[in-house]
Amino acid sequence: MTLAQDLEALAMDIAREAGDLARVRREAGVSIAATKSALADIVTEADREVETLIRARLAAERPDDAFLGEETGAEGGESGITWVVDPIDGTVNYAYGIPAYAVSIAAVRGEPTPEDWEALAGAVYTPVIGELFHAARDHGAWLGADRLRVNSEVGPAGALLATGFGYDPATRPGDIELISAVMPGLARDLRRGGAASLDLAYVAAGRLDGYFERGLAPWDLAAGSLLVTEAGGRFGRAVPDGSPRAPLVVASTPAIYDRLAAAAGLS
Ligand code: IPD
Repeated sequence: MTLAQDLEALAMDIAREAGDLARVRREAGVSIAATKSALADIVTEADREVETLIRARLAAERPDDAFLGEETGAEGGESGITWVVDPIDGTVNYAYGIPAYAVSIAAVRGEPTPEDWEALAGAVYTPVIGELFHAARDHGAWLGADRLRVNSEVGPAGALLATGFGYDPATRPGDIELISAVMPGLARDLRRGGAASLDLAYVAAGRLDGYFERGLAPWDLAAGSLLVTEAGGRFGRAVPDGSPRAPLVVASTPAIYDRLAAAAGLS
């Protein structure tokens, strides 16, 4: 077993336990603990409890590693590895009782920023749907025991794409412009699933041909981006030239990546 595979196994184990806790808490009812960057940006009591569980397990099993979590913040380490964690990705789905939410756990090496890190391992677990996506660097992306591959080609009807929207209402006009730029000539249809880690996992699994979104946080994309690249897809994140806006993420099968990235203004 390589280091990446050891980290993958740990991420999988903790994601299962954390996801099952999130599901049990959801069945008992949701309480909104606070709003964050915008009124629509909520955190539930379960987000905090689940992240606390993940953090405690990692501290017990990998005490020298650093941590970066959506709800409880960052803590340094000695090993050069950081765990990047979204305890409940798709919090609004979770609050509304939509099953498309996931625990996302990744181990990265280097500076814990998406431009600088090298993702080593990741797990994305949807406890209601019961799917565990996982990947280790140079050892593939998997759904359970099935190896994942992005779609090799896109049919004449066009690509099935997904996108997402940040919480800040001021970014909505830009998001709509982006859809207008991307859809004509490229998309057969567009999905807005509500959990970025799952959108990326679905690109890896060939359930989507591509995905784009502006303004994702590191914990939204850390595990999912590794799933995509280990499944043979392409992943890019950059600020389009001259744009004052947040970085744009594009992930897809290589069959459409250049066209999708160009339409979105990434290249
Ligand atoms: C959000 C989801 C959503 C995406 C937002 C993210 P959260 O994460 O991934 O799909 O559109 O940009 O912030 O807040 O549910 O962890």
